[in-house]
Amino acid sequence: MNTATLSPATAAPPAGVPVVDVDPYCDAFLSDPYEAHRQLREAGPVVWIPAYGIYACARHESVHAVFNDHATFISGAGVGLANFNQETPFRPKSLILEADPPSHTKARAILARILSPKTVMQIRATFTAEAESLVERLLARQMAGETIDAVKDLSEVYPLKVFPDAVGVGDANRENLLLYGNMIFNAFGPRNERLQKSAELVQPVTAWIMAHCQRENLRPGGFGDLIYQAADAGEITHDEAPLLVRSFLSAGVDTTVNGIGNAILCMANHPDQYAQLCADHSLARPAFEEALRFESSVQTFFRTTSKDTGLLGVQIPKDSKIVTFLAAANRDERQWPDPDRFDIQRRPAGHMAFGSGIHGCVGQVVARLEGEVVLTALAKRVSRIELIGAPQRRLNNTLRALASMPVRLIPV
Ligand code: HEM
Repeated sequence: MNTATLSPATAAPPAGVPVVDVDPYCDAFLSDPYEAHRQLREAGPVVWIPAYGIYACARHESVHAVFNDHATFISGAGVGLANFNQETPFRPKSLILEADPPSHTKARAILARILSPKTVMQIRATFTAEAESLVERLLARQMAGETIDAVKDLSEVYPLKVFPDAVGVGDANRENLLLYGNMIFNAFGPRNERLQKSAELVQPVTAWIMAHCQRENLRPGGFGDLIYQAADAGEITHDEAPLLVRSFLSAGVDTTVNGIGNAILCMANHPDQYAQLCADHSLARPAFEEALRFESSVQTFFRTTSKDTGLLGVQIPKDSKIVTFLAAANRDERQWPDPDRFDIQRRPAGHMAFGSGIHGCVGQVVARLEGEVVLTALAKRVSRIELIGAPQRRLNNTLRALASMPVRLIPV
């Protein structure tokens, strides 16, 4: 396997734990992870990856077990490879993602209230109108002779319009959010060349991101301002508010960009499935869900053990890092019949693309809304999505991301 990335330290395998000698951060693994995922699942419910000295779970049962025992498998020591009990985080820790109860509970309640199903009802009409008008504009550009890139012109453009609008971020330089997201998700992996490059690119935009977490730069009434209103009400301090806004800006863009991009790629690669969606637009929601299962935009997250523990027959000492392969759990043959088949009728309840347990994605209602309305807008106006060039992946330590996808949109 290609190890173009910086060499990680190796550690002796613990007795009795199956060893799987893969590098989940090398180019070959990230380009096509599925065979290695199968190997990880086959080896056992909990395995050891010597290249990084970490435990790993790739089966649905074990990933689910880890996420649903937050007292044993904690997030406060970081949800990436770095162990914050032993090294200083590269940025102030997230108050929600990298926190445990009781402080997590407080932050979570505020974000969950802001991103409630009621909020989704309020933003639905705007999100739908934006998706429809974007698809119309793309068809018009194509008529005028332009080639459409479903990543650059669609899956990046749409979330960058609707989500910062909802948070209340101004229009200028929003592409900074993509650079920032790319770096943040690389930073959950090792300090490899991929992280170094994205960190260099992001340096000039960090000040922009931090400025847009401040109240004076957030539209009154937007999701960002609502966090400051929670601070006004005494639920958090005013110093904590910008860090929670940062969670929206870190977690709310690159995830949906790639969730939507992967879903469109699934539709282009499976025209029979797209035809079903065109015939019945109510399949947009389950189709997005199946795309999240099939090509999970977030591939991995970590936990750290708070004590010596046993997990599905494997003993794990206190302060060990465990990587959970969400994407591998989503194709576990023990959980899903014929898991490598993309089937929009599947209804994959219980998939791990949004995590599970107390940290399960707090933005999933918004992500699902975005995915559903984009797929519906396409199905209304486009009868076929044809790839006219090979799609290019953007390799990221955590995300299954896309760089480009040239397409021809055949109008209805
Ligand atoms: C397709 C899009 C998305 C995917 C695949 C995704 C995936 C995930 C996953 C797997 C987690 C669990 C992390 C863990 O357990 O350590 C998570 C948590 C989180 N997500 Fe998302 N996400 C998406 C969209 C969003 C959006 C749109 C927002 C903001 C509106 C968001 C905000 C968050 C936050 C703040 C957390 C931390 C929750 C907590 O720790 O309690 N995500 N997401």
